[in-house]
Amino acid sequence: MPEVIDLILAKRDGRRLADDEIRWLIAAYARGQVADEQMSALLMAVYFHGLDQAELRTWTAAMVASGDRLDLSQVPWPTVDKHSTGGVGDKVSLILAPLVASCGAAVPQLSGRGLGHTGGTLDKLESIPGWRAALPPSDMLAVLGQVGCVICAAGPGLAPADRRLYALRDVTGTVESIPLIASSIMSKKIAEGTSALVLDVKVGGGAFMRRLVDARELARTMVALGSEHGVRTSALLTRMDAPLGRAVGNAVEVEEAIATLQGEGPEDLVEVTLALAVEMLRLAGVDADPAAALADGRALGKFRAMVTAQGGDPDAPLPRAAHSETMFAPEAGWLHRLDARAVGVAAWRLGAGRARKEDPVDPAAGVFCLVKPGDPVTRGQPVLELRSNDDDRMTGALQSLEGAIEIGPHPPEAQSLILERIGP
Ligand code: URA
Repeated sequence: MPEVIDLILAKRDGRRLADDEIRWLIAAYARGQVADEQMSALLMAVYFHGLDQAELRTWTAAMVASGDRLDLSQVPWPTVDKHSTGGVGDKVSLILAPLVASCGAAVPQLSGRGLGHTGGTLDKLESIPGWRAALPPSDMLAVLGQVGCVICAAGPGLAPADRRLYALRDVTGTVESIPLIASSIMSKKIAEGTSALVLDVKVGGGAFMRRLVDARELARTMVALGSEHGVRTSALLTRMDAPLGRAVGNAVEVEEAIATLQGEGPEDLVEVTLALAVEMLRLAGVDADPAAALADGRALGKFRAMVTAQGGDPDAPLPRAAHSETMFAPEAGWLHRLDARAVGVAAWRLGAGRARKEDPVDPAAGVFCLVKPGDPVTRGQPVLELRSNDDDRMTGALQSLEGAIEIGPHPPEAQSLILERIGP
């Protein structure tokens, strides 16, 4: 049995850890046999020195082995999932899972909650009355087998080492490390049992990865980890400088996702969703046209079936906020920039997100973007609508939007949202 201090000293001094040392460390930490202060020091050493590909493979495998790995072999369709590294207004999963299922692949999506300025898929879906995020594995498999898609919370048995490590990283300044992010995300996706996975790695001011080079390295690292663990994995790097679509929050994003499933989605959201759907179907080996399934209502039908199977009422009215404020254009021209991070922080301050894991969210809170980059504006035209059930939150939200919009005298150049594909 190694001494933890020796592992800390080795990493601190830039040496690699042996496979059996890593396996022991992760298993012992998951069992509560390594003190948080020692693990914190080791994580900080990893933050500065990284892990090489072999160390990372063993580290990730040890995180998977700390819990159960779901068996999806009885699902009657090829399985494929998507993971987004987190963006503002990113309600893609709500549309994509039923869309891909309606094309003949099964989507077993274990999702998370929002923390900080990016929202969480589960918080969004929970604004639908009755909808349940917590499903035991047997129920998750039943919904998947019956509908073809499921979006639910990862149970406590899935990569429990990551649960502890992520909470520790969150309070020790060690979240923004490519090997730690890659092993955290991939251990959960590998344990979920999917055969294929498409990563939506967001790049830009509203994303974890602000620079293309970092996003590319994260994507390559995760794609390699997936392949090494028998999960066909590819990644799309997508732009996250402005919010995706117009709605940022919970209920407001569900509304926009349903409108998109009804064929009335904003162009940018449809572009990213269809690109990911094409990539997922390609990895799953399914020959189908997702644009047709979105247009003819098949995807909407799957969404309604998935919501119903998880206890939700797809026809129930969604919560509405008691208070709203409007932000107006200070001058005429074309909207050049709508800062995704600032809008995300505003939505969070309005109550759509949480400061601590245990905090409740306000399902009706959020920001609606009445104007998007590229649109013409007149002086005094409403640009953003802020919504909350707590009027006291408006001032802080408005403050976070100072400098968030930029208006120019000419139309900005149109930019594709899909920057790069990284294949297995
Ligand atoms: N999401 C995760 O699941 N883990 C990370 O480390 C970062 C984002």
